[in-house]
Amino acid sequence: MLQQQGVLVKVPASTANLGPGFDSLGMALSLHLWVGMKPAERTQVRLHGPELTGIPTDETNLIVQIAKRVFDEAGVPIIPLDVDVYSEIPLTRGLGSSASAIVGALVAANALIGHPLSQQRLFDMATTIERHPDNVGASLYGGIIVAAWDGQQANAIRVEPHKALGTVVAIPRFHLETKAARHVLPRQVSMADAVYNISRSSLLVAALCTGDFAQLSFAMKDKLHQPYRAPLIPGMSKLLEEAVQHGAYGAALSGAGPTLIAFTNKEQEPLALVMFMRETLVQHGVEADVFQLLPCSEGALCLNAAAEEIKSVIPSTYKEHG
Ligand code: HSE
Repeated sequence: MLQQQGVLVKVPASTANLGPGFDSLGMALSLHLWVGMKPAERTQVRLHGPELTGIPTDETNLIVQIAKRVFDEAGVPIIPLDVDVYSEIPLTRGLGSSASAIVGALVAANALIGHPLSQQRLFDMATTIERHPDNVGASLYGGIIVAAWDGQQANAIRVEPHKALGTVVAIPRFHLETKAARHVLPRQVSMADAVYNISRSSLLVAALCTGDFAQLSFAMKDKLHQPYRAPLIPGMSKLLEEAVQHGAYGAALSGAGPTLIAFTNKEQEPLALVMFMRETLVQHGVEADVFQLLPCSEGALCLNAAAEEIKSVIPSTYKEHG
Protein backbone atom coordinates (compact mmCIF):
# COMPACT_ATOMS: atom_id res chain seq x y z
CA MET A 1 0.00 0.00 0.00
CA LEU A 2 1.51 3.33 -1.12
CA GLN A 3 2.04 5.89 1.67
CA GLN A 4 0.72 9.09 0.05
CA GLN A 5 2.13 11.30 2.83
CA GLY A 6 5.50 9.75 2.19
CA VAL A 7 8.00 8.49 4.74
CA LEU A 8 10.88 9.90 6.76
CA VAL A 9 13.89 7.72 7.54
CA LYS A 10 16.85 8.44 9.86
CA VAL A 11 20.09 6.51 9.31
CA PRO A 12 23.29 6.49 11.40
CA ALA A 13 26.84 6.92 10.15
CA SER A 14 29.26 4.05 10.69
CA THR A 15 32.87 3.19 11.26
CA ALA A 16 34.14 0.04 9.53
CA ASN A 17 36.92 -2.48 10.20
CA LEU A 18 37.55 -1.35 13.83
CA GLY A 19 41.20 -2.13 13.05
CA PRO A 20 41.65 -5.83 12.19
CA GLY A 21 38.08 -6.67 11.08
CA PHE A 22 38.66 -5.64 7.48
CA ASP A 23 35.35 -5.69 5.55
CA SER A 24 33.69 -7.54 8.42
CA LEU A 25 33.32 -5.41 11.59
CA GLY A 26 31.38 -2.16 11.83
CA MET A 27 29.74 0.10 14.38
CA ALA A 28 27.00 2.69 13.99
CA LEU A 29 27.85 6.21 15.17
CA SER A 30 25.79 9.15 16.39
CA LEU A 31 25.85 11.25 13.22
CA HIS A 32 22.85 10.93 10.89
CA LEU A 33 21.40 11.20 7.43
CA TRP A 34 17.68 11.72 6.84
CA VAL A 35 15.70 10.77 3.73
CA GLY A 36 12.19 12.07 3.11
CA MET A 37 10.46 10.30 0.20
CA LYS A 38 6.97 10.61 -1.24
CA PRO A 39 5.10 9.90 -4.48
CA ALA A 40 5.18 12.79 -6.98
CA GLU A 41 4.18 13.74 -10.54
CA ARG A 42 7.82 14.04 -11.57
CA THR A 43 11.03 13.03 -9.83
CA GLN A 44 12.67 15.80 -7.88
CA VAL A 45 15.55 15.63 -5.38
CA ARG A 46 16.44 18.35 -2.88
CA LEU A 47 19.73 18.09 -1.01
CA HIS A 48 20.29 19.96 2.23
CA GLY A 49 23.48 20.60 4.15
CA PRO A 50 27.09 21.30 3.26
CA GLU A 51 27.97 17.63 2.79
CA LEU A 52 25.85 17.06 -0.31
CA THR A 53 26.99 19.79 -2.70
CA GLY A 54 27.64 18.46 -6.20
CA ILE A 55 25.51 15.32 -5.91
CA PRO A 56 23.06 14.83 -8.83
CA THR A 57 19.45 15.87 -8.23
CA ASP A 58 17.89 14.26 -11.30
CA GLU A 59 16.89 10.67 -12.13
CA THR A 60 20.55 9.63 -11.86
CA ASN A 61 20.57 10.39 -8.12
CA LEU A 62 21.70 7.30 -6.17
CA ILE A 63 18.70 7.37 -3.83
CA VAL A 64 16.26 7.53 -6.76
CA GLN A 65 18.08 4.71 -8.56
CA ILE A 66 18.03 2.51 -5.44
CA ALA A 67 14.33 3.23 -4.82
CA LYS A 68 13.64 1.92 -8.34
CA ARG A 69 15.52 -1.28 -7.50
CA VAL A 70 13.32 -1.74 -4.44
CA PHE A 71 10.13 -1.24 -6.48
CA ASP A 72 11.43 -3.71 -9.08
CA GLU A 73 12.39 -6.27 -6.45
CA ALA A 74 8.97 -5.94 -4.79
CA GLY A 75 7.19 -6.23 -8.15
CA VAL A 76 5.42 -2.86 -7.88
CA PRO A 77 5.28 -0.16 -10.59
CA ILE A 78 8.08 2.41 -10.61
CA ILE A 79 6.72 5.85 -9.71
CA PRO A 80 8.24 9.35 -9.76
CA LEU A 81 9.48 10.46 -6.36
CA ASP A 82 9.90 13.62 -4.39
CA VAL A 83 13.04 13.15 -2.30
CA ASP A 84 14.68 15.33 0.37
CA VAL A 85 18.04 14.39 1.85
CA TYR A 86 19.79 16.02 4.78
CA SER A 87 23.11 14.69 6.02
CA GLU A 88 25.43 15.50 8.92
CA ILE A 89 27.87 12.79 7.77
CA PRO A 90 31.00 14.13 6.05
CA LEU A 91 31.47 12.67 2.55
CA THR A 92 34.42 10.40 1.63
CA ARG A 93 36.00 10.58 5.10
CA GLY A 94 35.56 6.98 6.26
CA LEU A 95 32.29 7.45 8.16
CA GLY A 96 30.08 5.45 5.81
CA SER A 97 28.27 8.35 4.14
CA SER A 98 27.49 6.38 1.00
CA ALA A 99 26.40 3.32 3.01
CA SER A 100 24.00 5.55 4.98
CA ALA A 101 22.55 6.95 1.75
CA ILE A 102 22.13 3.44 0.30
CA VAL A 103 20.46 2.13 3.45
CA GLY A 104 18.31 5.27 3.69
CA ALA A 105 17.12 4.81 0.11
CA LEU A 106 16.35 1.11 0.58
CA VAL A 107 14.50 1.56 3.88
CA ALA A 108 12.55 4.62 2.68
CA ALA A 109 11.48 3.04 -0.62
CA ASN A 110 10.48 -0.19 1.12
CA ALA A 111 8.46 1.73 3.72
CA LEU A 112 6.80 3.83 1.01
CA ILE A 113 5.28 0.68 -0.51
CA GLY A 114 4.30 -0.98 2.77
CA HIS A 115 7.45 -2.90 3.77
CA PRO A 116 7.24 -5.87 1.35
CA LEU A 117 11.00 -6.65 1.61
CA SER A 118 12.55 -8.16 4.74
CA GLN A 119 15.47 -6.55 6.62
CA GLN A 120 17.64 -9.45 5.42
CA ARG A 121 16.73 -8.74 1.80
CA LEU A 122 17.52 -5.05 2.30
CA PHE A 123 20.85 -6.03 3.85
CA ASP A 124 21.70 -8.30 0.89
CA MET A 125 20.75 -5.54 -1.57
CA ALA A 126 22.70 -2.89 0.36
CA THR A 127 25.80 -5.10 0.44
CA THR A 128 25.52 -5.91 -3.27
CA ILE A 129 25.38 -2.19 -4.04
CA GLU A 130 28.03 -1.00 -1.55
CA ARG A 131 30.09 -4.23 -1.48
CA HIS A 132 31.08 -3.91 2.19
CA PRO A 133 28.70 -5.42 4.76
CA ASP A 134 30.51 -3.70 7.63
CA ASN A 135 29.28 -0.17 6.86
CA VAL A 136 25.83 -1.02 5.49
CA GLY A 137 25.18 -3.57 8.26
CA ALA A 138 25.93 -0.99 10.96
CA SER A 139 23.75 1.65 9.29
CA LEU A 140 20.87 -0.78 8.81
CA TYR A 141 20.90 -2.60 12.15
CA GLY A 142 22.74 -0.15 14.45
CA GLY A 143 25.13 -1.19 17.22
CA ILE A 144 28.20 -3.28 16.45
CA ILE A 145 27.99 -5.55 13.42
CA VAL A 146 29.98 -8.72 12.78
CA ALA A 147 29.38 -9.58 9.14
CA ALA A 148 30.41 -11.78 6.23
CA TRP A 149 29.40 -11.65 2.56
CA ASP A 150 29.80 -14.32 -0.12
CA GLY A 151 28.88 -12.11 -3.05
CA GLN A 152 25.20 -13.09 -2.85
CA GLN A 153 24.16 -13.28 0.74
CA ALA A 154 25.30 -11.15 3.65
CA ASN A 155 25.24 -12.63 7.15
CA ALA A 156 25.48 -10.44 10.22
CA ILE A 157 25.13 -10.62 13.96
CA ARG A 158 24.43 -7.41 15.83
CA VAL A 159 26.06 -6.82 19.19
CA GLU A 160 24.80 -4.14 21.57
CA PRO A 161 27.63 -1.67 22.28
CA HIS A 162 28.72 -1.68 25.93
CA LYS A 163 27.14 1.25 27.78
CA ALA A 164 30.54 2.65 28.78
CA LEU A 165 31.96 2.67 25.24
CA GLY A 166 32.62 6.04 23.63
CA THR A 167 34.76 7.23 20.74
CA VAL A 168 36.77 10.23 19.65
CA VAL A 169 37.06 10.83 15.92
CA ALA A 170 39.60 12.94 14.07
CA ILE A 171 38.12 13.85 10.70
CA PRO A 172 40.79 15.30 8.40
CA ARG A 173 39.61 18.12 6.14
CA PHE A 174 40.48 16.25 2.96
CA HIS A 175 38.62 13.65 0.96
CA LEU A 176 39.88 10.11 0.39
CA GLU A 177 37.93 7.96 -2.06
CA THR A 178 37.45 4.36 -0.90
CA LYS A 179 38.58 3.22 -4.36
CA ALA A 180 41.93 4.98 -3.94
CA ALA A 181 42.35 3.61 -0.40
CA ARG A 182 41.65 0.06 -1.65
CA HIS A 183 43.96 0.47 -4.63
CA VAL A 184 47.01 0.65 -2.33
CA LEU A 185 46.24 -2.74 -0.75
CA PRO A 186 48.23 -5.84 -1.73
CA ARG A 187 46.51 -8.59 -3.72
CA GLN A 188 48.00 -11.26 -1.51
CA VAL A 189 49.00 -11.39 2.15
CA SER A 190 51.17 -13.81 4.09
CA MET A 191 49.74 -16.58 6.28
CA ALA A 192 51.44 -14.88 9.26
CA ASP A 193 49.60 -11.60 8.61
CA ALA A 194 46.29 -13.43 8.05
CA VAL A 195 46.66 -15.22 11.38
CA TYR A 196 47.70 -11.96 13.05
CA ASN A 197 44.41 -10.38 11.93
CA ILE A 198 42.10 -13.34 12.49
CA SER A 199 43.30 -13.70 16.07
CA ARG A 200 43.00 -10.00 16.87
CA SER A 201 39.67 -9.60 15.14
CA SER A 202 38.25 -12.55 17.09
CA LEU A 203 39.67 -11.19 20.33
CA LEU A 204 38.22 -7.77 19.52
CA VAL A 205 34.71 -9.17 19.06
CA ALA A 206 34.97 -11.07 22.36
CA ALA A 207 36.32 -7.96 24.12
CA LEU A 208 33.49 -5.79 22.76
CA CYS A 209 30.89 -8.41 23.76
CA THR A 210 32.21 -8.77 27.31
CA GLY A 211 33.34 -5.18 27.94
CA ASP A 212 36.93 -6.32 28.49
CA PHE A 213 38.30 -3.04 27.13
CA ALA A 214 41.79 -3.63 28.52
CA GLN A 215 42.25 -5.98 25.53
CA LEU A 216 41.49 -3.31 22.93
CA SER A 217 44.96 -1.79 22.54
CA PHE A 218 46.20 -5.24 21.50
CA ALA A 219 43.04 -6.42 19.73
CA MET A 220 42.61 -3.35 17.49
CA LYS A 221 45.95 -3.85 15.75
CA ASP A 222 45.96 -4.72 12.05
CA LYS A 223 48.36 -5.85 9.35
CA LEU A 224 46.01 -6.23 6.39
CA HIS A 225 45.14 -2.66 5.45
CA GLN A 226 46.28 0.05 7.88
CA PRO A 227 50.04 -0.20 7.18
CA TYR A 228 49.38 0.21 3.44
CA ARG A 229 46.97 3.11 3.93
CA ALA A 230 49.13 4.99 6.46
CA PRO A 231 51.12 6.89 3.79
CA LEU A 232 47.81 8.39 2.56
CA ILE A 233 47.15 9.99 5.97
CA PRO A 234 50.13 11.90 7.40
CA GLY A 235 50.32 11.41 11.18
CA MET A 236 48.18 8.25 11.18
CA SER A 237 50.89 5.83 12.34
CA LYS A 238 51.95 8.00 15.29
CA LEU A 239 48.33 8.64 16.27
CA LEU A 240 47.42 4.94 16.24
CA GLU A 241 50.57 3.93 18.11
CA GLU A 242 50.34 6.57 20.85
CA ALA A 243 46.59 7.13 21.38
CA VAL A 244 46.54 4.67 24.31
CA GLN A 245 49.13 6.82 26.14
CA HIS A 246 46.57 9.66 26.04
CA GLY A 247 43.58 7.78 27.42
CA ALA A 248 42.27 5.71 24.49
CA TYR A 249 41.55 1.98 24.87
CA GLY A 250 42.69 1.53 21.28
CA ALA A 251 42.59 3.31 17.93
CA ALA A 252 42.07 2.49 14.27
CA LEU A 253 41.60 3.93 10.84
CA SER A 254 37.85 4.42 10.36
CA GLY A 255 36.84 2.42 7.29
CA ALA A 256 39.02 3.36 4.34
CA GLY A 257 39.91 6.67 6.04
CA PRO A 258 40.99 9.36 6.33
CA THR A 259 39.09 9.57 9.66
CA LEU A 260 40.88 8.08 12.67
CA ILE A 261 38.85 6.73 15.57
CA ALA A 262 39.85 6.07 19.17
CA PHE A 263 37.73 3.98 21.53
CA THR A 264 37.27 5.49 24.98
CA ASN A 265 35.38 5.23 28.24
CA LYS A 266 32.54 7.65 27.62
CA GLU A 267 32.29 8.46 31.33
CA GLN A 268 35.77 10.01 31.24
CA GLU A 269 36.51 13.43 29.76
CA PRO A 270 38.74 12.83 26.69
CA LEU A 271 40.33 16.29 26.61
CA ALA A 272 43.94 15.04 26.60
CA LEU A 273 43.12 12.55 23.84
CA VAL A 274 41.34 15.17 21.72
CA MET A 275 44.34 17.51 22.02
CA PHE A 276 46.79 14.71 21.22
CA MET A 277 44.85 13.63 18.13
CA ARG A 278 44.47 17.19 16.84
CA GLU A 279 48.09 18.16 17.51
CA THR A 280 49.53 14.98 16.00
CA LEU A 281 47.70 15.63 12.75
CA VAL A 282 48.54 19.35 12.73
CA GLN A 283 52.24 18.48 13.24
CA HIS A 284 51.94 16.43 10.05
CA GLY A 285 50.24 19.25 8.15
CA VAL A 286 46.69 17.87 8.45
CA GLU A 287 43.80 20.04 9.66
CA ALA A 288 41.15 17.91 11.32
CA ASP A 289 37.91 18.23 13.26
CA VAL A 290 38.27 16.21 16.46
CA PHE A 291 35.29 15.44 18.69
CA GLN A 292 33.46 12.75 20.63
CA LEU A 293 30.92 10.49 18.97
CA LEU A 294 28.90 7.80 20.67
CA PRO A 295 28.09 4.32 19.37
CA CYS A 296 24.52 4.39 18.05
CA SER A 297 22.32 1.49 19.15
CA GLU A 298 19.57 2.26 16.66
CA GLY A 299 19.95 1.44 13.01
CA ALA A 300 17.87 2.89 10.18
CA LEU A 301 14.58 4.09 11.64
CA CYS A 302 11.39 4.79 9.79
CA LEU A 303 10.08 7.75 11.80
CA ASN A 304 6.39 8.08 12.39
CA ALA A 305 6.23 11.22 10.26
CA ALA A 306 5.35 12.48 6.78
CA ALA A 307 8.20 13.09 4.31
CA GLU A 308 7.96 16.86 4.64
CA GLU A 309 8.68 16.67 8.39
CA ILE A 310 12.33 16.51 7.31
CA LYS A 311 12.15 20.32 7.39
CA SER A 312 12.09 20.17 11.18
CA VAL A 313 15.49 18.44 11.35
CA ILE A 314 17.35 20.63 8.83
CA PRO A 315 19.17 23.55 10.50
CA SER A 316 17.96 26.79 8.90
CA THR A 317 21.51 27.83 7.97
CA TYR A 318 21.76 25.09 5.34
CA LYS A 319 20.55 26.11 1.97
CA GLU A 320 18.86 23.79 -0.46
CA HIS A 321 20.52 22.35 -3.57
CA GLY A 322 18.40 21.00 -6.36
N1 HSE B 1 35.90 -2.10 4.78
C1 HSE B 1 35.98 -1.08 3.78
C2 HSE B 1 37.43 -0.71 3.54
C3 HSE B 1 35.24 0.12 4.25
O1 HSE B 1 38.19 -0.64 4.50
O2 HSE B 1 37.82 -0.50 2.38
C4 HSE B 1 35.06 1.15 3.18
O3 HSE B 1 33.73 1.20 2.80
